[in-house]
Amino acid sequence: MPFDKIYKYTVPISLDFGPGAIEGLAKALPRLGTSRPLFVCDKGIRECGLLDIATQALNSDAAEYSTFDGIASNPREENVLEALGVYQDEACNGIVAIGGGSVIDAAKGVGLLASNQGDLDTFDILDGGAAKITNKPPPLVAVPTTAGTGSEVSRGALIITTREGVTRKMIAASPLLVPQHAILDPSLTLSLPPLLTAGSGMDAICHAIEEYLSPRSHPVVESIALGALERLAQALPRVMKDPANLTGRGQMLMGAMMAGIGFEKGLGVGHSMSHAIGALHDIHHGALNATLLPACFEFNRNEIPEEAATRLCDTIGIERQSQDTPLDSLIAWAKALNEDFTIPQRLRDIGVPGEDREILIELAMADHCHRTNPRRCEKADMEELWERAW
Ligand SMILES: [Fe+2]
Repeated sequence: MPFDKIYKYTVPISLDFGPGAIEGLAKALPRLGTSRPLFVCDKGIRECGLLDIATQALNSDAAEYSTFDGIASNPREENVLEALGVYQDEACNGIVAIGGGSVIDAAKGVGLLASNQGDLDTFDILDGGAAKITNKPPPLVAVPTTAGTGSEVSRGALIITTREGVTRKMIAASPLLVPQHAILDPSLTLSLPPLLTAGSGMDAICHAIEEYLSPRSHPVVESIALGALERLAQALPRVMKDPANLTGRGQMLMGAMMAGIGFEKGLGVGHSMSHAIGALHDIHHGALNATLLPACFEFNRNEIPEEAATRLCDTIGIERQSQDTPLDSLIAWAKALNEDFTIPQRLRDIGVPGEDREILIELAMADHCHRTNPRRCEKADMEELWERAW
């Protein structure tokens, strides 16, 4: 890395990791000054009993808490506002987010609006919103129940807003939005169904790959991203075959969290397109990234140095055919994973309508992730990605 400037990095927060770590919630909340938490989740988390496990971890019949289970699978502004209403009406003083990235992102939105003046779009990073997040949100404990988004350690929250008929994913990002504490308990992920395990796991794998390939110089994240990828690439096929494999589930949670630490190195063009599609269609974010991954490798072919592609192959443990370039091997590996996990190979097959081409390309261009893509991405380039992936 060139020594022509001062580099500034942020590497976060306190974590409890291991089977049964959820029991630590009773100690974590008072330490953060929270006597009445709002538990934020979605209906699925309540129905499968994970919300009960979390509230029972408070260890006291007299414990006071509130719950809100209305977060959608791609979180929307109205979900955040509804949860905020409960937070304020019931005089809560901290939040426990138990769920996937959507729930954790929505909980960050609740905390943001509970402590700062303005609506969600006020804080969009594309409009200089980061500087407007000046007040510290209430304490947030993140309890991920999927191994994917890394939102439990990240500073970002993606929430769908609609203004004057335009729907998109706004992004709030600030060090103040990083949860104060995260509980990574692999036993909470054992009941995750195969498609969600695969989708969220592929999301984490895409994070690690896009971070590693991002041209932004960040040696800390470069190492973390490779460490994350090694864990994830080995553990995901294992837990898909054997969902009760606690060690594999733990490796997935650890890898996804590590990749979450890496966001500040930047993601790539695949995430710009998946964010765009996710704003208009209720399709799983991780599955979208998985579908896009082979096309993204192809799209970036001339800008991925052979050394970097070789390093990725070695990290993943790909046994290369001698006639293949390392990039060809990566593409074959990504396609084979999708096939094994029954994730569609093309956007058209995962439910993205062709008539949305123009609006999705426009939304993807407005997303910030492609700015750290290895290949510079103008509108014509994004059109090319669409053609490759749709
Ligand atoms: Fe993602």
